[in-house]
Amino acid sequence: GLAVAGAALLSARGFAKGPKAVPLPARTVGPASGEKKVSFAAAQRSLKLMGADRPASRVWTYADEPFHLIRLAQGETLSVDFENRLPEHTSIHWHGLRIPNDQDGVPYMTQPPVKPGERHAYRFTPPDTGTFWFHPHCDTVAQLGRGLAGVMVVEGDETRAYDADVALVLKDWRLDEATGEWLPFMTTRGALRAGTFGTVRTANAQVAPTIKLPAGGDCRIRILNLDLTRVGDLSFEGMEAAVIAIDGNPVSPFPLKEWRLGPAMRLDVVVRAPAAGGRGTLVDYFSANPVTLATFSGEGEDRPKSAFDPAPLSKGDIPEPKLKGAERLKFAFATAAGGKAALAASAEEGDPLDKALLDSLCASDKVNWSVNGESWPAGDHSRIPPPLFTLRQGRSYVAELTNETPHVHPIHLHGFTFKVLSSTRAGAPVHFADTVLLTPKDRITIAFVADRPGDWMVHCHLIEHQDTGMMGYVKVV
Ligand code: C2O
Ligand code: CU
Repeated sequence: GLAVAGAALLSARGFAKGPKAVPLPARTVGPASGEKKVSFAAAQRSLKLMGADRPASRVWTYADEPFHLIRLAQGETLSVDFENRLPEHTSIHWHGLRIPNDQDGVPYMTQPPVKPGERHAYRFTPPDTGTFWFHPHCDTVAQLGRGLAGVMVVEGDETRAYDADVALVLKDWRLDEATGEWLPFMTTRGALRAGTFGTVRTANAQVAPTIKLPAGGDCRIRILNLDLTRVGDLSFEGMEAAVIAIDGNPVSPFPLKEWRLGPAMRLDVVVRAPAAGGRGTLVDYFSANPVTLATFSGEGEDRPKSAFDPAPLSKGDIPEPKLKGAERLKFAFATAAGGKAALAASAEEGDPLDKALLDSLCASDKVNWSVNGESWPAGDHSRIPPPLFTLRQGRSYVAELTNETPHVHPIHLHGFTFKVLSSTRAGAPVHFADTVLLTPKDRITIAFVADRPGDWMVHCHLIEHQDTGMMGYVKVV
């Protein structure tokens, strides 16, 4: 009774102001087969993040270029020979990919940690097309903070070829700008509040780069917010732009006005590139002073002009949850008792790094944040608490996410791409996603099919929140 009434309510109030979804076309490209073998190592490398004439920084990356990009075709199997050349253990989580649990890359939960000097093999066939990424799942504040992340593109969703396909990674770095050395990645102040922000903002690891696009062409820009903390309100200036996918999941194209992109979230956009010699920009309007993140220049001969009418991507393969009779779950994201006490104790003024306080919070398990009243034990993932919920394989679930804090939380569920049924966010169509931005006092309803067994993490992707308690998991049996 309850579940049915709830489901009816959802469809009535979900995204009232969003654009009408028109059915997406069927795939025009058949699935590929075969295996793609890649081999890479996590290691410390040197990168000039502030510009060619400025000091270099000691980044941690998967390859010589930052944000190592893996492209494969839907249906292809990826086989990864991974080596850890870092001084601490790591693992690779494939964010947004619906792959078997033993490939999910969570140390102690789904695999042993990959110790310094060790190798680990991952092998899986990504079932969905789209824009994904990968990153470690331990000491993430420091590992991702130093740049350890890669981009994965699974091709096969286009119904018309674009004139260019560009991945654009947004990430800030906590650098001492005089020396290029790292500032502390985590601060007590930040970890207790909206996070510790970087000092140098980059797109593709460059400060405000200029990206060349074929003049007048329709270009696919895959925007990935791989920052640990920062939320952007993104808008293209001087170029027409339409959203074609959210977290890699196709939606019927709608004009991009301003899009709030939280950590770990992705947005695929088609832009009409500037005419030859012209320029457009990507601007973040989140804070009082808008920041130009990248400039796009039109290069070469102008393409013949036509009205801007981007083709939709083909329909995805995410299983449609059955709302009728679905079991309902609640996830409440809150400040833990320890966080409240620390918040009261920490100064509002200044930002002293109180590593000792933080360490003592971690050591004493007085973590800052909780999910359903439970905090993930501090330290690494080695002390595994009971699951938040045990789910039945194959069943549909409707989950309500609530925010009991004054901060935003990008909430991510591993393993299952969910349908966002309702939220207070205006201007978005009903869509599938793997990460949703829970704003203060927000209430978001999602639904998914628990189609694969295993232990699947649920956590805030604001990494200081994740690393100080705002994490749990669901067990699918
Ligand atoms: Cu990007 Cu636990 O995830
Ligand atoms: Cu959070």
